[in-house]
Amino acid sequence: MKERLEAMKAEALGRLAEASDPGRLNELRVHYLGKKGQLTEILRGMGSLPPEERPEIGRIANEVRAAIEAVIAEKQARFEREETAARLEAETIDVTLPGRAPRIGAVHPLMKVQQEIEDIFLGMGYAIAEGPEVETDFFNFEALNIPKNHPARDMQDTFYITDEILLRTHTSPVQIRAMRAAGGRTPLKIICPGKVFRRDDDDATHSFMFHQVEGLVVGPNIRMSDMLGTLLQFARAMFGPQVTIRQRPSFFPFVEPGAEVDVSCAQCGGEGCRMCKGTGWLEILGCGMVHPRVLEHGGYDPKEVTGFAFGMGIERIALLKYGIDDIRLFYGGDVRFLRQFAKM
Ligand code: DAH
Repeated sequence: MKERLEAMKAEALGRLAEASDPGRLNELRVHYLGKKGQLTEILRGMGSLPPEERPEIGRIANEVRAAIEAVIAEKQARFEREETAARLEAETIDVTLPGRAPRIGAVHPLMKVQQEIEDIFLGMGYAIAEGPEVETDFFNFEALNIPKNHPARDMQDTFYITDEILLRTHTSPVQIRAMRAAGGRTPLKIICPGKVFRRDDDDATHSFMFHQVEGLVVGPNIRMSDMLGTLLQFARAMFGPQVTIRQRPSFFPFVEPGAEVDVSCAQCGGEGCRMCKGTGWLEILGCGMVHPRVLEHGGYDPKEVTGFAFGMGIERIALLKYGIDDIRLFYGGDVRFLRQFAKM
């Protein structure tokens, strides 16, 4: 019996030495030490031994069991260490890798210029008004003193929805809406930024949709000098303190007198360059003293109040400010173009 125990021990240790995974280890444990295992099997023969030999065999059996268990425990521990090490290796995170920078959006250059224009006028005490992009013929033309035969009212130039409803061709109809909303109160000082629509073929300087900012001041004793002072202030805030403005007589049905305002070219300081086509001046807006009939349509008495109005294209201001030569860049959504304005 002693020999069988020693033989079993030798066999068990040999096979354990070769076991290369925890599953195999468990198999061997069951095989040798389990309830129906080899050791139990051998010890079942104890009954047939003379009583004086039994303690000796019992001691050897315990030794064999302890030896096998020790090897199993040791190998078990090693497998666990190896597994932990392998997992740590596989799950390593390199905390020194630089992160992936998220892509950050930016305000569109047109909206940036619009906001800048808004800020300048808000600083001069103006309020921001809004009006609908789908307008009636009355607000877009009639109330602005634009006669029935005026070329702007032509199907060629205006997007009509019905005979009476159209896409506004300028922000000027908001003048009438703002005056009516004010209910005769003075002073009225508003600007209105927004989209306008014209039946133009798109090219470097035309777009069927573009943006304008309208301005309107109504009150007792508002004079042309107020208008020019305001516009000079605006031009300097927008293009730099060194610029100046000039006005040229012009005609718009809703103002009398009407004018166009040029700003001295910020690029060449008025010397003449490619930007200003050698003239030293850049046209930036139309303006004038509000026509008495327009004041009446707005609910004001032209004998009591006067006013001035102006309108400018946001695209045009942005082109001049940033030296861009094609308005289509504003609508193309090309991130390479847009990104340049992100940090300005
Ligand atoms: N509405 C004109 C246009 O679209 C611009 C304009 C000119 C607006 C003179 C005005 C103004 O308020 O007084 O061309």
